[in-house]
Amino acid sequence: MSNRELVVLGIESSCDETGVGIVRGNTLLANVISSSMDQHAIFGGVVPEVAARAHLEALLPVMDEALSNAEITLDQVDAIAVTNGPGLAGALMVGIGAAKALAVATGKPIYAVNHLVGHVAADILAQGKVSTPTIALLVSGGHTSLLLVNDLLKDVVLLGETIDDAAGEAFDKVARVLGLKYPGGPEIDRAAAGGNPAAIRFPRGLSLPKDMSQHRYDFSFSGLKTAVARHVELAESKQEQINLSDVAASFREAVVDVLVTKAINACKEYGVNRLLLGGGVIANARLREYASEKCLAEGIELRIPPLSLCTDNGAMIAVLGSQLIQAGAAPSSLAFSAESTLDVRKVQS
Ligand code: KG4
Ligand code: ZN
Repeated sequence: MSNRELVVLGIESSCDETGVGIVRGNTLLANVISSSMDQHAIFGGVVPEVAARAHLEALLPVMDEALSNAEITLDQVDAIAVTNGPGLAGALMVGIGAAKALAVATGKPIYAVNHLVGHVAADILAQGKVSTPTIALLVSGGHTSLLLVNDLLKDVVLLGETIDDAAGEAFDKVARVLGLKYPGGPEIDRAAAGGNPAAIRFPRGLSLPKDMSQHRYDFSFSGLKTAVARHVELAESKQEQINLSDVAASFREAVVDVLVTKAINACKEYGVNRLLLGGGVIANARLREYASEKCLAEGIELRIPPLSLCTDNGAMIAVLGSQLIQAGAAPSSLAFSAESTLDVRKVQS
């Protein structure tokens, strides 16, 4: 059997999704996800200890289901891949512990891989490859990163990231301010339907000329969150009702505008005519629409993998492990650990 056809089982547990994915070469065999989102809802955001415990409970059932969906047994798995960062340390440790135990018990090689690069690798499952070079915009509840990917395994550059809240976190926090449920993204998307995105000019974080030297490709959403809170407080102090649709649409527009503008600027500056989107916030209808319009206007090819591959999942981890194997990389030593702030340049630990 050639390396291309090796079966890799990937485990993802960096945030609140327990994911197990199975690939053969570059082909998806199974992708099972269990989310602990409901358990975090009453807190309005992901609680690390709750997430870690949920991973512990979900991992074995999720793995059994993935094997069953792939119609294989554990014996037929050739290698194990696992996320070792970036992410929540306690949550990562659960996946890593399980992956190491599996590797030791079965004698199979293990590959510790980078979660962010995994998001980029997800496109392989959608189109058989990641076309490079590409700019990648990764937006979720846990991260907001802009990457220049020259080579998936050898040359990934972090151009910028959020200096405070992640994009999804901003949706979640603003939803709370507006009295909407958690997770906030879908709620705000719904509330924004029919609203006027130009009704209120909310601030675009780190987008002023003075920000361009230090923070050209960084993001900040805390000022925007405060601006929405002020808008609501002001209305309350005057005993007026806010126009929920207009506020939601204007807030969403501010987030989407900053994300897409910075991503397109990066494409232009680096001479890359490709943009890949990843992360749970990609579910946002306006983000996809705005990115499509701007990319079309600039002659940039836009790649959006199916949402099931954009949100955190084990399949993207499995397929990244598979790329390492196909490239002849040696397995990771069992000494690797969870690295909550793992550098994007470190594809394998
Ligand atoms: O990648 P993901 O599923 O997992 C974590 O980061 O844990 O992303 C979840 C995040 C949440 O913050 C949620 O509010 C956001 O993605 N999200 C959205 C939408 N759907 C989910 N944000 C904006 N618009 C949406 N439609
Ligand atoms: Zn992620």
